[in-house]
Amino acid sequence: MSDNNIVIELKGLTKRYGYGDTESFALKDFDLTVKRGEFIMIMGPSGCGKTTLLDIIGLLDRATSGEYMLNGEDVAGISARRQARLRAKKIGFVFQNFNLIEDLPVLENVALPLVYVNQPRTVRLKNASEALRRFHLQEREYYFPSQLSGGQQQRVAIARAIVSDPEIILADEPTGNLDSRSSHVVMEELKAIHEEGNTIIMVTHNPTLTSYATRVINMLDGHIDTDIKTVADSNLPQPISVKVKKGKRSRRKH
Ligand SMILES: Nc1ncnc2c1ncn2[C@@H]1O[C@H](COP(=O)(O)OP(=O)(O)OP(=O)(O)O)[C@@H](O)[C@H]1O
Ligand SMILES: [Mg+2]
Repeated sequence: MSDNNIVIELKGLTKRYGYGDTESFALKDFDLTVKRGEFIMIMGPSGCGKTTLLDIIGLLDRATSGEYMLNGEDVAGISARRQARLRAKKIGFVFQNFNLIEDLPVLENVALPLVYVNQPRTVRLKNASEALRRFHLQEREYYFPSQLSGGQQQRVAIARAIVSDPEIILADEPTGNLDSRSSHVVMEELKAIHEEGNTIIMVTHNPTLTSYATRVINMLDGHIDTDIKTVADSNLPQPISVKVKKGKRSRRKH
């Protein structure tokens, strides 16, 4: 691998739906290189391919053709099982509608991704509790999602996204269902996660949020229309080691 600061490299990525008369392209010959520590915001009109892109990057979906290198590894054609394992280890997701499991308490929701990285149950619950403490939600561990506000549910979802210490966070309109105050709280949490050296790719329709980004990409009809970096690569945050990061998390509790 030539540059180990590159986390994601997409080349000529195409996603086609349908054939013949019904053929359409959600992504067309899409190229993107993402460096460690970038906070990318993706904007663009409805239907331009933002969710499709995030789902492919997050190994939830596959491109029809093209190259996808994740940490220098070709992941475009790997098995579904291997995709799932990589996803659990490296990628955290945050969705617009939170996607929490309604009949599981908050603590169990947050602990869920750790099942896939083979941690014993007691360790899973301890780590989940620690992640919730970071978001000041520890005293609501045994609440069910429906007993929380939208902003609180999204903070639980972010705790779930980071609990396995993934290096990439993908967020599809994470503030889309939130009022402006809750949006602000959620954005500040994402900002803190970014400052620890994590890479974040977030889709938003809200142009005022782009002040949080180090790079803003506007998409149009399945391709990049504009791509503007607002922070030089040399000024991107450096990763903090897991140990320090954990310490930092638990110090923030009050
Ligand atoms: N399963 C599918 N079958 C056929 N077409 C699809 C499918 N999923 C997505 N598309 C099409 O792909 C295009 C891109 O969809 P995508 O969901 O990525 O858009 P988006 O930019 O996320 O839009 P929005 O801002 O509304 O969320 C759209 O034209 C959509 O109709
Ligand atoms: Mg979408």
